[in-house]
Amino acid sequence: MKKYVISFVVLSAMCCSAGWAASEPPLPKGYHSWQKSGRKIVTDKSSLFYGIHYLYADKKAMQGYQAGNKFREGSRIVVEFFNIKGNSSADGPLNMIVLMQKDKRQKGTGGWLFAGYSGDGRPSGLDPLKNCFECHQKEASHKDYVISTSKDFVR
Ligand code: HEC
Repeated sequence: MKKYVISFVVLSAMCCSAGWAASEPPLPKGYHSWQKSGRKIVTDKSSLFYGIHYLYADKKAMQGYQAGNKFREGSRIVVEFFNIKGNSSADGPLNMIVLMQKDKRQKGTGGWLFAGYSGDGRPSGLDPLKNCFECHQKEASHKDYVISTSKDFVR
């Protein structure tokens, strides 16, 4: 059993956010100790990924990447997004966090749970199908809906 330590941030998100639903789990505790990608910068302002981001993958997810994007139940991947500050040599504030967690109950979204959070970890109540899966399906239906690959973790 994985243990999630319920932090104050998560508790307040559970009690007060209209976006809370059973399908939006708290952010996995301790994901900063997972395997981290290199720093990625997107300077195209029209892109959803405008800014600086880092991917984090847990052990199972890393095995999935190494198997050529075939992920086992429970694999988790988190992405943190930071604003670009000035000349982009330093990360600006953390503004968004997203999670994918392999969960076979999520049949409508390719067997993955998709969830978005604000920078302080509150669930943002986005529609996992319209706001997330449709794009992942378009980009990576042949890669288990995961767009990045093991190469992104070579630093
Ligand atoms: C317009 C397309 C698009 C939408 C919409 C989108 N993503 Fe992504 N997502 C991407 C791209 C492109 C990457 C790869 C980023 C990289 O390589 O650094 C990605 C990467 C990810 C990753 C890392 C694993 C992977 O697939 O590479 C997670 C987790 C993720 N997105 C979750 C979400 C969630 C949750 C939502 C909805 C709140 C969402 N995404 C919406 C395009 C999208």
